[in-house]
Order: sequence, then structure tokens, then C-alpha cells
Amino acid sequence: PAVTGLKQLAPFPMGAAVNVSLLKNRSAYEQTVATEYNSLTGENAMKFASLHPSQTTYTWSDADYIVTYAQQHNARVHGHTLIWYKSLPSWVTSFQGDSAAWENLMKTHIQTVVAHFKGKVASWDVVNEAFEDNGTLRNSVWRQHLGADFIARAFQYAHEADPAALLFYNDYGHEWGPTKRTAILNLVNGLKNRGIPIHGIGLQMHTNINRADTNLATAISTAGQTGLKVHIAELDIALNPDKTAGLTFTPALAAAQKAKYKAIVQAFKALPAAQRFGITTWNVGDADTWIRGFCSCSDWPLPFDDNYQRKPAYDGIVEALQ
Ligand code: G3I
Repeated sequence: PAVTGLKQLAPFPMGAAVNVSLLKNRSAYEQTVATEYNSLTGENAMKFASLHPSQTTYTWSDADYIVTYAQQHNARVHGHTLIWYKSLPSWVTSFQGDSAAWENLMKTHIQTVVAHFKGKVASWDVVNEAFEDNGTLRNSVWRQHLGADFIARAFQYAHEADPAALLFYNDYGHEWGPTKRTAILNLVNGLKNRGIPIHGIGLQMHTNINRADTNLATAISTAGQTGLKVHIAELDIALNPDKTAGLTFTPALAAAQKAKYKAIVQAFKALPAAQRFGITTWNVGDADTWIRGFCSCSDWPLPFDDNYQRKPAYDGIVEALQ
């Protein structure tokens, strides 16, 4: 039988990161979101620079648009992201103040944002990408001014503002191997053991067709061993990781991508049901992917093509769900 949408098929939420201007202005994009997904993440709308462009100004309109849209379409909203080293407004990167002033800055941002969306956004990426690729703690402005334990305090501040919200630590590279993964898992296990309010772990999974299925499955199963909820939070599967000029989207590449999507969804399905927070792809169609701009190359990393037609990758997700 024909598939209505991924959200009807999956026993856990299926999500996409959404771009507000595409949601407003491109009807095929909006239709695909409405048909397929019941969990939405703002690709950029809830980042620090988007919500809090000057110290005394908050701009809620794009983020509120996503919330209202989600309410109208019976979708949840996952908040992304409160504390990150990127997408900071210049007033933060140039902020002059002692550690108490920085603490107040972080606390005020977290609590103002979480309070604004209380009862509307039920989960947050509280801290994003605190680690370098080699597993050492990133020397972000937060760490420089607040020390390594800014992470724990960020979770506490978010929890104070909305005790019902599910709080996530989100990062990439779990599937690369043990070095960065172990650093991340040690962090979240340490927070959990100290009684810090952390409820989930986000695996971004910006991956590619060369990554072995075993690495992907290990990333997912070891995240599950924390006992926390697991969110595959930013999934895309690049076909052109070597940035080959002139590459075209061949049936062979489509088939390899289909198999990779299927393997990831199968590994996720193997988690205990209570830990399956959901799977979110990072945007909707290939035309919308951040990867094309980032690599200045051709790529087709998503389950929908440039015209929002379902690709073999989509069928791979369906096969894993059925
Ligand atoms: O909106 C402005 C536009 O006004 C301006 O003219 C233009 C010039 O650079 O920039 C536009 O903003 C861009 C924004 O995307 C909206 O398109 C930013 O420069 C650009 O840096 C930003 O990139 C986003 C990136 O995060 C940085 O925030 C990507 O769209 C987004 O896909 C990407 O998402 C991240 C996740 O948040 C965290 N994990 C990795 C993932 C991929 O990098």
C-alpha cells in the first residue's frame, strides 16, 4: 500500500529541521513537512543570534511561527539550541565582563528563552557541540569565561525555567569511533550521576555513504546504554564527502544512500521504546541542505529530491519502519 507519510509509519516521532522562509514561501516544502513529519526543529530560528540579537532585544517571530505551525499540524517542536559556540550575536562575542556577568548573561538567555516557550517547546538542546573533534573540551566563550562546568549549570538553569522540559546534550561524531564518543558519553553519564537534570542525548549524524553500518549502529547503541532518551537529531547522508567536482546523482549512489538510511533507522528501532525520542533529518529536500553551501559541491543528502519527490533514501526509511 502507498505510504501516507513517515509519521504514520513510525512508532516514534519523525522530524525535520525547518527553515521558516521556506515553510512560508515554498508550498511543496510546506506540504512535505505537513504530510511527513510530527516533530519540527528550527534549523536556525531558535539559535542565540536569531532570538537575542542585542542584549536587550529578543526577536521571537520566526520561532513563534514554527511553534504555531506545529500546533496546527499536531507536531511537537524540539528547541535548538540554547548554548553553542556558534551563531552568537556580536554583542556576546565582544561582551566585556567578569565571570559573574557572563554567568548572568548565560542564565538570562536560557531562562528567558525557555520561559517564552514553556508549554510549547517540550524539549531543548541545552548545550550543543561542547567538544572538539578530538574529544577535548572546546575552548568556547562559555568555557573561557565560565569554566568547564558551564554545561551542568546550563542544564540547571533550563530546568528551573521549565521543570517539565526534556533537556538534551547534542553533538556530532559519535559514529566516527571511540575517542570523541567516549568523551561525550563520559560527560552525559557524569551529569546524570551528579543529579543534573539531563534527559536525552542528541546524535547529530551528519554522515555519509562511506561510514560503515557498524559504526552507525555502535553510535546509536552506546548512546542507548546511558539510559537517556536518544534523538538522531540532524540526520543527513552525504554522497559526495570527497567534494568531487561534476559528480552526478546516479542510481548506484541512490541505492547506497537508501541502504545507509535503512541501516540507521533499523539501529534506532533496536533501542528500547521508551528511549526512542525520534529521528530528525536536517531539512527536507536536497535543495535545502546546508551541505551544498558548506562544501561548495554537489550533494543530495536528504530523503526528498530538489522537487520534494521521495527518493530511494525515503524508501530505505520506509523499509526499516515496516
Ligand atoms: O540569514 C542570513 C542572511 O541574512 C545573510 O545575508 C547571510 C550571509 O552569510 O547569512 C544568513 O545566515 C546564515 C544562516 O545559516 C541562515 O541561512 C548564516 O550565515 C549561516 O551561518 C547559517 O548556517 C547555519 C549553521 O548551522 C550555522 O548556524 C545552517 O543554516 C544550519 O544548517 C547549521 O546547522 C548546524 C546545527 O545548528 C548544529 N549542528 C551542525 C549543523 C550544520 O552545520
